[in-house]
Amino acid sequence: MQVRKKVLCVVGARPNFMKIAPIMRAMRSHATEIDAVLVHTGQHYDEAMSERFFQELQIPAPDVSLDVGSGTHAAQTAEIMKRFEPVLDLEKPDCVLVVGDVNSTLACALVAAKKGILLVHVEAGLRSGDRRMPEEINRLVTDRLSDRLYTSEATASINLAAEGIAPGAIVFVGNVMIDTLMHARSSAVPATQTLRSYNAPETLLEPPSQFAVLTLHRPSNVDDPVTLGRLVEVLTEVARELPIVFPVHPRTRSALERCGLQHFLTAPGVIALPPLGYQEILGLMLSATLVLTDSGGVQEETTALGIPCLTIRDNTERPITISEGTNTLVGSDPTAILAGVAAIVSGGGKSGRRPELWDGNAAGRIVEDLLQWLHQT
Ligand code: UD1
Repeated sequence: MQVRKKVLCVVGARPNFMKIAPIMRAMRSHATEIDAVLVHTGQHYDEAMSERFFQELQIPAPDVSLDVGSGTHAAQTAEIMKRFEPVLDLEKPDCVLVVGDVNSTLACALVAAKKGILLVHVEAGLRSGDRRMPEEINRLVTDRLSDRLYTSEATASINLAAEGIAPGAIVFVGNVMIDTLMHARSSAVPATQTLRSYNAPETLLEPPSQFAVLTLHRPSNVDDPVTLGRLVEVLTEVARELPIVFPVHPRTRSALERCGLQHFLTAPGVIALPPLGYQEILGLMLSATLVLTDSGGVQEETTALGIPCLTIRDNTERPITISEGTNTLVGSDPTAILAGVAAIVSGGGKSGRRPELWDGNAAGRIVEDLLQWLHQT
């Protein structure tokens, strides 16, 4: 009989939860072969940013909670490292599995690598080429330290090979985020129900209603008052023609208040909502005319759903959403944003196709490969 392998899985922030959910499910269906231990760093801690996703996505309650909370990048990363090290001493896993590119990913990767524990990275190899993005630093370092690297698109595997990662360590498995999307699609909350529950104007609820969904939280867009002010101005203009449904990230809400721009949240055509659950945002995206975003995951989700997406960034680490999907980069330039919206409203926007292996089975492929690899290593 083969020995059961202990895999310590790490989550910390909201985008991690959609990635870990299908992996935990696949590991549970191999429970005789894998002992999966879930560690939540507590980088995100609000009910709306964390707890509710465990329920909605049926993620088992964390076995270990580190409760680190917010801080500067250095303080948050250091605190996670300090609290994660004793967990490894106690659990003695066969490997540590990290997902995505948040500070929790980097912090736990560093600790595992320094303790000589095998490190596995899911969603490896994505590169924006922009080191001003904290996530880009997290990706570069995590991948450099990883022993097994699972990629979601072909360019990610190419990036890793170009950086000198051994080709045998890189496995193209597809996109776990899309596993979650396909699993949850049938239970998406209808957009009208969500809008009604947050008291949106009745006119928006009458078909054929047209609206945009906006998500905005990248430091490069919201931390600088000039950039944020310019975005608020152009988005106010968009909202006069096409209502904007805007679930507001806590970072963005405080940035708007700090910069004296909170009037945007009550501007004509702007429907500001608290951070939403997964099934709510999914339902809104499914009914949206278009999505405006600076999120990484939303670029992928809109591509998988075939919904036009305008990305408020100058670059993307997910180029397949542009080459094959429905995504267009518009940066923070008002003219490009207005032109992008107008093109979609009048012509329907880019039609794309679903990228290779974004088929709902990425986590299954990861677990099968992981087991085989752990037994060989
Ligand atoms: C983090 C990730 C980012 C991801 C995003 C999704 C990093 C470097 N960034 O950014 O890649 O796209 O999560 O949300 O890891 N806050 C709350 N409640 C919470 C969590 C945060 O109010 O539950 C507030 C705090 O004031 C905090 C701020 O939001 O200072 C930012 O949170 P933080 O985790 O530092 O980064 P995000 O901007 O959320």
